[in-house]
Amino acid sequence: MEVKTSLLDNMIGVGDMVLLEPLSEDSFLENLKNRFEHNEIYTYIGSVVISMNPYRSLPIFTPEKVEEYRNRNFYELSPHIYALADEAYRSLRDQDKDQCILITGESGAGKTEASKLVMSYVAAVCGKGQEVNKVKEQLLQSNPVLEAFGNAKTVRNDNSSRFGKYMDIEFDFKGDPLGGVISNYLLEKSRVVKQPRGERNFHVFYQLLSGASDESLKKLKLHRDFSKYNYLSLDSAAVNGLDDAANFRTVRNAMQIVGFMEDEVQSVMELVAAVLKLGNIEFKPDSRSNGSDESRIKDKNDLKEMCELLGIEQSVLERAFSYRTVEAKLEKVSTTLNVAQAYYARDALAKNLYSRLFSWLVTRINESIKAQGKTRHKVMGVLDIYGFEIFEDGDNSFEQFIINYCNEKLQQIFIELTLREEQEEYIREGIEWTNIEYFNNAVICDLIENNQNGILAMLDEECLRPGTVTDETFLDKLNTICAEHLHFESRLSKNSKFLTDHSLPHSCFRIQHYAGKVLYRAEGFVDKNNDLLYRDLSQAMYKANHKLIKQLFPEGNPAKVNLKRPLTAGFQFKASVGTLMRNLQTKNPNYIRCIKPNDKKASHIFTDSLVRHQLRYLGLMENVRVRRAGYAFRQPYEPCLERYKMLCKRTWPHWLGPAREGVEVLMSDLPVPAEEFSFGRSKIFIRNPRTLFFLEERRRQCLQDLATLIQKIYRGWKCRGHFLLLKKSQIVVSAWYRRYAQQKKYQKIKSATTVVQSYTRGWQARKLLRELKYQKRCVEAVTTISAFWHGTQIRREYRKFFRANAGKKIYDFTIQRIMQKYFLGLKSTLPSMSPIDKNWPARPYLFLGGVHSELRRIFHLWRCKKYRSQFTEEKKAVYEEKLEASELFKDKKALYPSSVSQPFKGDYLEINKNPKYQKLSIAMEDKVLLADVVNKINRANGKGTARLFLLTKNSVVLADQKTGQVKASVPLPDLTSVSVSTQSDGFFALKLKEGSASAVKGDFLLSSEHLIEIITKIHRMGTTAADREQLDIDISDEFLVQFKHDKVCVKFIQGVPKNGNSVSCKRKNNRLLEVSVPSTA
Ligand SMILES: Nc1ncnc2c1ncn2[C@@H]1O[C@H](COP(=O)(O)OP(=O)(O)OP(=O)(O)O)[C@@H](O)[C@H]1O
Ligand SMILES: [Mg+2]
Repeated sequence: MEVKTSLLDNMIGVGDMVLLEPLSEDSFLENLKNRFEHNEIYTYIGSVVISMNPYRSLPIFTPEKVEEYRNRNFYELSPHIYALADEAYRSLRDQDKDQCILITGESGAGKTEASKLVMSYVAAVCGKGQEVNKVKEQLLQSNPVLEAFGNAKTVRNDNSSRFGKYMDIEFDFKGDPLGGVISNYLLEKSRVVKQPRGERNFHVFYQLLSGASDESLKKLKLHRDFSKYNYLSLDSAAVNGLDDAANFRTVRNAMQIVGFMEDEVQSVMELVAAVLKLGNIEFKPDSRSNGSDESRIKDKNDLKEMCELLGIEQSVLERAFSYRTVEAKLEKVSTTLNVAQAYYARDALAKNLYSRLFSWLVTRINESIKAQGKTRHKVMGVLDIYGFEIFEDGDNSFEQFIINYCNEKLQQIFIELTLREEQEEYIREGIEWTNIEYFNNAVICDLIENNQNGILAMLDEECLRPGTVTDETFLDKLNTICAEHLHFESRLSKNSKFLTDHSLPHSCFRIQHYAGKVLYRAEGFVDKNNDLLYRDLSQAMYKANHKLIKQLFPEGNPAKVNLKRPLTAGFQFKASVGTLMRNLQTKNPNYIRCIKPNDKKASHIFTDSLVRHQLRYLGLMENVRVRRAGYAFRQPYEPCLERYKMLCKRTWPHWLGPAREGVEVLMSDLPVPAEEFSFGRSKIFIRNPRTLFFLEERRRQCLQDLATLIQKIYRGWKCRGHFLLLKKSQIVVSAWYRRYAQQKKYQKIKSATTVVQSYTRGWQARKLLRELKYQKRCVEAVTTISAFWHGTQIRREYRKFFRANAGKKIYDFTIQRIMQKYFLGLKSTLPSMSPIDKNWPARPYLFLGGVHSELRRIFHLWRCKKYRSQFTEEKKAVYEEKLEASELFKDKKALYPSSVSQPFKGDYLEINKNPKYQKLSIAMEDKVLLADVVNKINRANGKGTARLFLLTKNSVVLADQKTGQVKASVPLPDLTSVSVSTQSDGFFALKLKEGSASAVKGDFLLSSEHLIEIITKIHRMGTTAADREQLDIDISDEFLVQFKHDKVCVKFIQGVPKNGNSVSCKRKNNRLLEVSVPSTA
């Protein structure tokens, strides 16, 4: 729902000065101050907006604010420039009424800013689209261009507009912008050549020198240093907060957006450079022989550069600075210029050059922003024009006169239009029109612009008059012609009342403007009005080979020599003001009156005297009076009823009939005199602000009462709501609690019941069990008893049929049967006949344990016997020998394991068959049990000599291997022991019984591959022969051998095989033979 608000809500002071009560200059000022101090810079006078310059940025120009004011009624929100812009735009768009926005105020009051705010607001709220946006952008970007060329830093304003500007923005029927037309008024061109103290020349000069690239400056023949140029004042060249270089870029960019071609921009810059160069041209006096004073250019370098820039022939311009040609009909007279005249000519050229360039810029911008199509457009004009200008020290000149004249005209239009609007509204609303008393300034306008005796007409007359014309002659003329005028004051006029007025100097005249008295100094009026540029100069300019310059000085064209004097500045201005006024009169006016709060450009300072001065000359009190002349306040019935309906019981809270009747009922109910208000067709008109404030006060009281009522109801409603909520919560809480308590109780009962139940059930079960057990025992007892009883009965019955030892027999039979079955079973499961087979069937019955293991043993023995019985006698003897060898050497000598697999052949030499040993075999008495080749170890060196070794059952024979000749024969009984080592060697020593015949030669130390067999066999001979002692077998690694004379120790050591010999024997000394045996591991 849209919230209905009003200007009257939250007002600081009074938002609309029309409602000021009591109305006086002091209360007006106080109200403005009060609002300004609360950051309320805008105040209305009816539909006029007073704008105070805040000199700081306020957060009231945001897009949100634009939205807030968009499509809202003027008095609906607090005063704002946007409200005025919105009202103007909407009545343009919706009611097809052309609008003009007139912004006035003194320099630095914020006119230009206000005009930009209006334009930006309109740009924000009007239609969008590519084409429309381009137009908007061009319109907005025309501002920086014109500001660069037309604005300057002054003591009052760092960005002071030195020209008047009126811009018509054209819209189509939808309210979309199509284009615009700019008109400029009276550029302050004197600034080009001279600036007051503390002020600067136009911004563009400084911007160009600061912002252009080195290359461009070189092209323009310029230096970056301001001090090089006479026309640039130096004391305030740099302005705080103004970045000339950045602004130059902005201007270049804006020119591009507006549509300037690159060569056009260059031409413009060339002209600006030319003006600077022009300022540097200086003259010195030069006396001619004919006695006339002449001037001469001091240094022609600047002139040369300027001519190069503009394509002018240097001699032409030089001549134009030296001579002045006056043409009259057929005559042409040339006079030389003295130094002062030459300077005058130079400055006039500079001023003309610059002001014409400025006008050309406006024309060029207009070309770009011109609306297309010939259909009628809706127009909104924005006028940013200098306000009343009064220099307190009486230093008001021609410019101030012109400016103030313009403001008089604007005031007149304001009065006319305001009254007309007022009157129209009264007629529209059917209210009786009563004549309004107000001051009409038409009489002052007439004093200035009257074609016969107006000041401007007289000035023109003076300027055109032949003969000597000075400012004094002009003042004299005024003194005679205007003497009687009520608003003209001069010391020398015929009007004697000013004769003694010392505040009025003789060279001045004073005009009583509507806004106050202004003292004008007559000096310079004629000159400035003439605005003379010597024809020689304009012709020289026309001759320039520069497109733009040529356009700017069309009067220099010799083909179009016009002998008429050019139009005076005053005349031109009057004409353009006339056009402007006619233009404005066709439009609906909207006023923005700008006020400057202080002279220091500072925020938060409100200088009473300064503001008072401004409200006087802006005629603001006059504004309020005109506005209040009829009815001070008016409001449509609907919002009026909506706002005040609470003041009457019949209209509160709803009035169902038409709003007008509601308001009538409402007003009749209130103690307000009938003459204080009138009912129009759609509005109520209130004559006096007091009545409105009375209504407001009543409303405020009513609102308070209503607020209390609403508060009361609201509080009641809130408390009741709270109570209901509490109640509901309490029920919920108690329900939950009860449920919880019941649940707990139930669980308790349930568990108690379960316990009781379980005890009861347990008790019952136990009781039942006991009963059942008892019954079971009874049944068992009965059964047992009956079984015994039956047994007894049966036994008693059958006893006669049983034999006494039947049991034993059955037992024996059973045992037998089992045994039988066991043996038969064993027979079929007997293991193999191999003596080494360890298998044996499992025992079937425990009681057969002994039998079973005995049978196993018997079976094994039997099996072994069977196995043995297969052997022949020889094989048996061999096994016996093997067995004996095992008993002798197993685990004692390392050679043994290798001998196990070798069969004991005995006769390795086959001595009987070998004819070589025939003799030997014959010599042997007994059967040779073993014949082999052994090594007999030589005690002297440990080396072996091969010998045949023969064993018979009685002796051991050693014979030569080759010849078979017996070398030694030892009867076995002479052998006492045999010594062998524990190792794998084949050494053995046959030790002979001391004292025996064989022992003469000593023991034998032999070595054989078949050592095990040899010794076993020798040993066997000892065991089998009953007459012999058992042969000792000594197994050790160190033993003594008795050689012929002495005993030698044979020592076995483990060594490394050498020269392929596995075993080597070395004599170490006389008593030691060392046998080195390779380790078996
Ligand atoms: N609404 C505003 N908000 C903030 N600052 C403002 C506002 N209006 C004006 N100013 C400040 O005041 C300065 C002067 O304003 P502006 O140039 O609009 O004055 P002017 O009335 O156009 O003066 P002149 O007649 O010399 O051209 C601005 O440069 C700006 O700093
Ligand atoms: Mg301005």
